[in-house]
Formats: sequence, C-alpha cells, structure tokens
Amino acid sequence: MLLCLATATAALTTPTLKLPGTGDAMPAIGYGTWLSKKGEVYEGTKAALATGYKHIDEAWVYMNEAEVGKAISESLADGTLASREELFLTSKLWNNFHRPELVRQGVLESIQALGVEYLDMYLCHFPVAFTPGTVEASSADQVDDVPLGATWTAMEKLVDEGLVKNIGVSNFEIEDLKVVQAVATKPIACNQFETHPYYQRQPLLDYCTEHGIVVTAHSSMGGAANAMSAFHASPPLAQDATIRQIASKHDTTAQAVLLAWALTRPTAIIPKSITPARIAANLEAVLALTLDADDLAAIAMLDKPGLEGCYCHPKTPWLGRSEFTGKTDHYYG
Ligand SMILES: NC(=O)c1ccc[n+]([C@@H]2O[C@H](COP(=O)([O-])OP(=O)(O)OC[C@H]3O[C@@H](n4cnc5c(N)ncnc54)[C@H](OP(=O)(O)O)[C@@H]3O)[C@@H](O)[C@H]2O)c1
Repeated sequence: MLLCLATATAALTTPTLKLPGTGDAMPAIGYGTWLSKKGEVYEGTKAALATGYKHIDEAWVYMNEAEVGKAISESLADGTLASREELFLTSKLWNNFHRPELVRQGVLESIQALGVEYLDMYLCHFPVAFTPGTVEASSADQVDDVPLGATWTAMEKLVDEGLVKNIGVSNFEIEDLKVVQAVATKPIACNQFETHPYYQRQPLLDYCTEHGIVVTAHSSMGGAANAMSAFHASPPLAQDATIRQIASKHDTTAQAVLLAWALTRPTAIIPKSITPARIAANLEAVLALTLDADDLAAIAMLDKPGLEGCYCHPKTPWLGRSEFTGKTDHYYG
C-alpha cells in the first residue's frame, strides 16, 4: 500500500493513501462526525477544516449531513477551503437502501443534505440489509434478503453517473469482500472497519492490502463514546498501561499514540472530536509523533484475538444477523 506525502497546508503535511482505479489520493487523516450532538458537528467541522483537515467521514445514518454540509459550504465561501476539489468527502449507504432500485435514492439523499455535487468515496455501510424504511432493525423480519453483489452493482452505476468518484465498503469481513469481488467490475477502493491495538484484525488488513483495498480504521481510540464499546471485555483502550507508557516516553497523549500507530499499519484514521484542542491534536500531535520499533513491538502484543469488536458482536441488536436469521455466522465464531 502506498503511503505518499502531500502538502495539506503550508504548515501541515498529511499523508495520503492512493486509491485503486482512480488513483485518487485519500488524506490519511479525516474528521469523524458520528455521535456529535445537534449543533456540535457544525462547529466541529468548521474547526477541523480551519485546522487543516481535508477529509471528512460522514454517513446517511449519522443524521447530521446537513450540518456538515453547511460547515463545508461556509468554509468554501470564506476561503478556508480553496475549492471543493481540495476536500475528500466520504458518506455511506445505509442498510435500508440496499435494494438495487433504492441505492441511487440513498446517495442522492446524502449528496443533497451535504450540499455537494459528488462524493469522493461512497461506502456500503454494513454487509447487512434492512427492509426499506427500517433505520434500526430490532427483529428478524426487518432484515432484508438482498445479495451484497446486487447492491454493489448498483453502486457501480453511481460512479458511471458521476455521483461518486470511488466506491467501497465498511465493516466487511473477508467472506463479504469475496462476495463483492465475484461480481465487481470496479475496484473496492476502501474497507472501513473497526480496528485498534486490542482488535488488530491483521488477517483482514492483510487481505485488503493483497487485493489493493485501502483500509480506513474507525474507532481507533477505542470508540469510547459509543455505548456499544461496553461489549469490549477490556478497560478503555486509552487507559492501557503500555499505551500510556509509550505516550509518556514521547511526551504526548495515549490518543496520539493510538492514532499514530494506526497510520503506521498503514490505515487511514478518522478521529471524531467536538473539542477544538483535541481536533487540532488529532492532526498536529499525531503528525508530529514517530513511533519507534520498540513501541510498535509492544503495541503488537496488545492484540486480544478473542475480543469481539463493537460492530461485529452477536449482541449488537441491529447487526446481529445470526441472531435474527438463526444462521451460523462467521462473524461470531
Ligand atoms: N463505518 C462505521 O460503521 C463506523 C463506526 C464507528 C465510527 N465510524 C467513524 O469513525 C469515526 C471515529 O470513531 P468513533 O467516534 O467511534 O471513536 P473514536 O474516534 O475512537 O473516539 C471518539 C471519542 O474520543 C474522544 N476524543 C477524541 N479525540 C480525543 C483526544 N485527543 N483525547 C481524548 N479524547 C478524545 C471524543 O470526545 P469529544 O468529541 O468529546 O472530544 C469521543 O468521545 C466516527 O466519528 C465515524 O465517522 C464509522
């Protein structure tokens, strides 16, 4: 995987990841937007763009695309962003739009809410379909039987139409990727999934690398704000003794260590914060930090192979397709 250097601002140099197919350069540090309260994400996005972030991670289901779109359009108008092309904007197809005839509606709702003409990246958010209109499934009859390949083929048409530049997936396991690869005529540009030192998922990362799929890590700091992190058996990642020792050695924070480690793998990162000092640190302190071989070896030992991720856990009610369908599912071992 190529990790290139590109100048983001005069003061900051942000690595980029080269996407298959288009060759587009995806900034390896993006601004995460999930779980911000109403109003917060507008201020947070403005602060992120002013700090020098050139990549925003959004999704239909975050229900805040209009706020982020307002921040983007104002940042274009006041010159914080020189042009739309300077920004790499990702959004995601929610589970209730998986039927091929609904995929276009899904992307149009995001594009309209964000106030843009195209997305740089559009991801199939989960390898699980819900019946049309179901935002969060709570029973088996709300899980829709739509083959992943059919959804993917409809997503390819969005590229042909110019609505999106690159397409990819999120929270897909190797078996899910193979299903898409069997029908794909365009590359899977990205797989965005939960990964951090306790949940390293090296085989999945290796598979993506071998197949030219760029990886974006979500919940890199442990996803502490997410109620589903209660499914983790371990204490909060940012309190891990090894991570804290490495942070102390480099005179930085545990969060900077977690984010810098993710960049070394290499994966893109999309830290979310609505706190201006943290928004700046998640870019500047991370870029300023170089982990050494001892740090990397110590972090490699933190993997907990038996750990379930927040997003692949059988008790995650809206994702537990094995619970709903009764099928044995590779997700859950
Ligand atoms: N594809 C998917 O299914 C999926 C799933 C989850 C997340 N995501 C994406 O990934 C993004 C990031 O994941 P995430 O929000 O779950 O978790 P995260 O980035 O691991 O953590 C966010 C939490 O950490 C806090 N935080 C941020 N920077 C910090 C710092 N420097 N020091 C201390 N605390 C800090 C934030 O608090 P404050 O905001 O209060 O500062 C927030 O509570 C999301 O926003 C979303 O865009 C995608």
